[in-house]
Amino acid sequence: MGDRGRHGLVVAVVSGRGGVGKSVSVGNLAVSLVQQGYRVAAVDGDLALPSLDLILGLEAGVGSGLAAVLAGRVPAEEALVPHPRWPGLALLPGLPVGLPARPDLDPAAARALWPDLAERFDFVLVDCPAGLENGLRLAAAGARQAIVVLAPGAGAVRSADRVLGALRAEAGFDDGQLWLLFNRYRPGPAPGLDRPDDLTALLGVKVLGVIPEDDAMVQALARGVPAAAAPSSPAGAAFRRAAERLAESARRQA
Ligand SMILES: Nc1ncnc2c1ncn2[C@@H]1O[C@H](COP(=O)(O)OP(=O)(O)O)[C@@H](O)[C@H]1O
Ligand SMILES: [Mg+2]
Repeated sequence: MGDRGRHGLVVAVVSGRGGVGKSVSVGNLAVSLVQQGYRVAAVDGDLALPSLDLILGLEAGVGSGLAAVLAGRVPAEEALVPHPRWPGLALLPGLPVGLPARPDLDPAAARALWPDLAERFDFVLVDCPAGLENGLRLAAAGARQAIVVLAPGAGAVRSADRVLGALRAEAGFDDGQLWLLFNRYRPGPAPGLDRPDDLTALLGVKVLGVIPEDDAMVQALARGVPAAAAPSSPAGAAFRRAAERLAESARRQA
């Protein structure tokens, strides 16, 4: 990856429910990949509740974002916000073009945009909006891989299973293009889904990583620096390993 003329990998990050850690996962994977030398575009596809600008510590409150690009009003290179700390990293902010509060993304426009970004970046990580339908529509629009994020709680496996089923049936993904990312893992006596092998056996998909619950994640949000940039954070270290796994699979596919 990284050579001229090569195509980057477009990865949609999705989940059944909101609040499981999709956006922090995109931020942390993006920073990890950039620290490994890759060029990364982090795309905030959550126009209803954008948060990647805060997670990455960028001022993206002015200017234009994904909605303007998809509407054809602004070229992508104009809307991309380069990160001052990591030159290989750029954010495509989730700025809506005015109301309504829940704008729908045009999958056809997304299908044209991702290859454009993939020519300039090694990885295009798309933080998809919460909910099966919207997230799926984006994931279906030409992403080569999808990461399904799940967090502990009743119904976690069922909701992940539903998203995986929909990605296979409606978006044509095969199991080789799908990953699970188990976030907010807490070791404890309760029988948990803490072992990657258990999750894979249950859901039939490879595990990209198991990310522990970590107070550093909250501090990271307050500082606008993802935990992956902090050497001592357990969650940050887990995200760096997950990013290595993603990069390794991308190299094998290239
Ligand atoms: N590994 C973690 N440890 C502690 N807190 C976390 C962790 N992952 C996520 N969080 C918390 O969960 C919140 C929701 O995460 P977010 O990425 O916004 O979810 P989503 O994008 O799926 O809605 C974050 O604000 C963060 O405080
Ligand atoms: Mg989010």
